[in-house]
Amino acid sequence: MQKMKMMTDITENKDVKILAIESSCDETAASVVVNGRTVLSNIISSQIDLHTIYGGVVPEIASRKHIEKINYVVEEALNTAGVTLEEIDAVAVTYGPGLVGALLVGVSFAKALAYGAGKPLVGVHHIEGHIAANYIENPELEPPFMCLVVSGGHTHLVNVVDYGKFEILGRTRDDAAGEAFDKVARAIGLGYPGGPKIDKVSYEGNPEAVIFPRSKVGDAYDFSFSGLKSAVLNHLNSCQMKGEEIVQADIAASFQAAVVDVLVRNAMEAAKVNKVKKLAIAGGVASNTHLRKAMEEACKKRGIEFYHPSPILCTDNAAMIGCAGYYEYMNGVRSGLDLNAVPNLKLGER
Ligand code: KG4
Ligand code: ZN
Repeated sequence: MQKMKMMTDITENKDVKILAIESSCDETAASVVVNGRTVLSNIISSQIDLHTIYGGVVPEIASRKHIEKINYVVEEALNTAGVTLEEIDAVAVTYGPGLVGALLVGVSFAKALAYGAGKPLVGVHHIEGHIAANYIENPELEPPFMCLVVSGGHTHLVNVVDYGKFEILGRTRDDAAGEAFDKVARAIGLGYPGGPKIDKVSYEGNPEAVIFPRSKVGDAYDFSFSGLKSAVLNHLNSCQMKGEEIVQADIAASFQAAVVDVLVRNAMEAAKVNKVKKLAIAGGVASNTHLRKAMEEACKKRGIEFYHPSPILCTDNAAMIGCAGYYEYMNGVRSGLDLNAVPNLKLGER
């Protein structure tokens, strides 16, 4: 059993301090969060430089680096917060989805720490963490709201019904938005990680230089980015064959415009049908400056309140896990020491 519901013995009016650990991909992160909204520390050890030479995340290297770093990262999170392990109320950890070897490092560490210190353990869904990142800087934000989660591994349009309660309105049928950014960036010679590089170089390009397809998947709010990725690759091949110049910034800006258009279009259609009053974005791609601007304008036009985390809370971090973990903890969720890494964990599943 992954988790068991238990009666909470939480004393009212007492601050609840969560020590959170995140290691699902290439960031080893730990954080101390008070009452789900106040971040006392947010330590992130990124492996990006290490994976850049391979053009993407190498799972085995990621796992090994997590093992090397996790001790120091957790210690630094406690020290920066000025909190001892004894003062912590619970240990929260990402147990899926993600790279199995990478997840296992965080999960095993958190289990050992919780057992050794006699603290409750709370397994947290990574995407739930991304969504919860919005609570940290927006104290007034509470469910229900709609959230577009766009990261390297996920593209989900979610109805956040309540804390820890979700309805999925749409998802990608193939590549995730961030994955498309990374693949296109590699194809046009920008390297890894592609998202931030395309974001930056696009300011020098013309988003209408090439009109790439804006895919529509049936009547659903689902997404598809593999056709767009192929269209970019075909365009590059065709230019090469005809001996035409490839303007990197134009391709980047045109590709990005297609992604942003589709994300905004689906979000606005779903918002209209579901009479949404509050819309949030989350995940690594949510730090894209063009997406933030376009979504903000679309929301403003329709009288929808728009929320987004700061860029550092969009990409993988443990503060978001501490925030989501707090609400799970307050709901009485406790994980047993049989908690395992679940690489394909579905949102809302335990
Ligand atoms: O949420 P995240 O850190 O990890 C996953 O859970 O996947 O997201 C990483 C993804 C990568 O694909 C990266 O290229 C993308 O987020 N990303 C961006 C930007 N910053 C990060 N994509 C577009 N624009 C950005 N500024
Ligand atoms: Zn993530």
